[in-house]
Amino acid sequence: MILKNSFLYLAGIAFLTLSKLKNMFQGYKSPKPFDMSHTSKCIDYDIHVVNEWLNHINKYTNNSYTIAGKNVLELGPGSDLGVGLCLLAKGCAQYNAIDVNNLMYETPEKFYNQLFSKLENMNIQKDIINILKAQLAKIKGGRESRLRYVVDKNFDIVAAFGKSNIDLVFSQAAFEHFNDIEKTISQLSEVCKDGALLVAEIDLKTHSRWIRDVDPNNIYRYSNYVYNLFCVPGTPNRYRPYQYKEVLARFGWSNISIVPLNKLNYKIIAYSGMHKNYSAEINQMDYLSIMLCATKRC
Ligand SMILES: C[S@@+](CC[C@H](N)C(=O)[O-])C[C@H]1O[C@@H](n2cnc3c(N)ncnc32)[C@H](O)[C@@H]1O
Repeated sequence: MILKNSFLYLAGIAFLTLSKLKNMFQGYKSPKPFDMSHTSKCIDYDIHVVNEWLNHINKYTNNSYTIAGKNVLELGPGSDLGVGLCLLAKGCAQYNAIDVNNLMYETPEKFYNQLFSKLENMNIQKDIINILKAQLAKIKGGRESRLRYVVDKNFDIVAAFGKSNIDLVFSQAAFEHFNDIEKTISQLSEVCKDGALLVAEIDLKTHSRWIRDVDPNNIYRYSNYVYNLFCVPGTPNRYRPYQYKEVLARFGWSNISIVPLNKLNYKIIAYSGMHKNYSAEINQMDYLSIMLCATKRC
C-alpha cells in the first residue's frame, strides 16, 4: 500500500505539472468532457444536464416547483448557449450566465442548427423554436435578449445582475473551479430573491484524464503548499461538501441538501494516502461528485 501511494503521489505531480504547462501554452480549453466538434454529444450533454437539474429540483421540492417564468442564472456555462436555449424552451423567462472565460465565441453555427432540429424532434412547438432562434440572433447581434452572457474576469455577479433579481441558480461542473467560494456564495445571496433555489452539480474528483479514473482523489494527497505550486486558473479548489454547507449556511441559505452522485464503494480506499487535511471522516472522501440544492432564506 505504501508503495502504491508513493507511486500515485508522484504520478499526480507529473499530471499537475502537465496541466500547468498546458494551461501556460493553450489557456483554458474544452470545458466539456469532449471537444465541440462532437456536435451530437455536446447537444446530448446539454439536454442531459438540464434534465438532471430538473429531476433534482423535483426531488428537492417534492414536485412543488415550476421553472416557468423564472429568471435563471447559470454560473460557468462553458462552451455554448445550449443549456440556456433548453431552459427557455422549458418556459424560463430569462437565462443569464456569467463566466471568467469567453468560451462561446467559437461555438460553430452547426451546433445551434443541430440543437434546434433536435428540439423539434423532441416535440418542442415550432413557434417556441422560432422564439429561441430570434433570441439567439439577438444575443449574437449584441441586442437585448432573453439569453444574456456576461464574461468578467473578476466574476462579479452582483455588478452583472444587480440585487434581488434571480429566482433560480444553476451550475454544472463549475463550482470546483471558483477561486473564492465565500465571495461567490455571498454574491449569490445578494443577487437572489428570497426563497430562490440553488442547484449545482459539483465534480470533486481530480480533473486530469487517466489519473482521475485510476486515482479519483489524487489532488487530495498534497499539502496546500505543494498543491499551490501547481495551481493555474481553473485548478480545482478542493472544497469538500461540509465546507460548501458551512459557507452556504453562513450566507443565508437553508434546507441544504447534498446528494452524492458518484461514490467510491470502499471508504478504506477513499482515505488511503490522503493528506492529513483530508483524512478525517468529515471530508466524505468517498463522495466523488455531488448535487447540491439550497434555498435562500426569506
Ligand atoms: C468544466 S467547465 C464546465 C462548463 C459547463 N458548465 C459544462 O458542464 O460543460 C468549468 C466552467 O467554469 C468556468 N471557470 C473556470 N474557472 C473559473 C473561475 N475561477 N471563476 C469562475 N468560473 C470559472 C469555466 O470557464 C467553465 O465555464
